[in-house]
Amino acid sequence: MSPESVAELVKAARAASEYAYAPYSHFRVGAAVRDEHGRVHIGCNVENASYGLTICAERNAVAAMVAAGGTRIVEMALYTPTEKPVTPCGACRQVIAEFGRGATIVLACAGGEPVFSKTEELLPLAFVLD
Ligand code: THU
Repeated sequence: MSPESVAELVKAARAASEYAYAPYSHFRVGAAVRDEHGRVHIGCNVENASYGLTICAERNAVAAMVAAGGTRIVEMALYTPTEKPVTPCGACRQVIAEFGRGATIVLACAGGEPVFSKTEELLPLAFVLD
């Protein structure tokens, strides 16, 4: 991932986190994915009074990519306004694996330097059908 790409994706993820609908947890998350066409798609977490219906930022960003015609996550950024970077939940890792084999995932936060990971590092031996 080039420094410019990292900066652009993290900026987009941070902007998305500001629109998070998180009245229950007050935990804001933003995500941005770059697809195979170089386009950026964003998502934030959207909670619900029926807590289990909450959708994470990562899955909303992937859904936005698919709805816009993207088929592959090349790079992805996650942003939380925390002191340390946060990693995607298990459900999101499975969804990232569906579209993002080999993708680089940058985990960014308010407090420090971003951490870089890979889909296969976040979810080794993922269940995928070829
Ligand atoms: N959340 C995400 O958006 N992504 C994750 O990977 C972990 C959790 C959201 C869901 C919920 O709105 C809040 O963070 C607290 O769990």
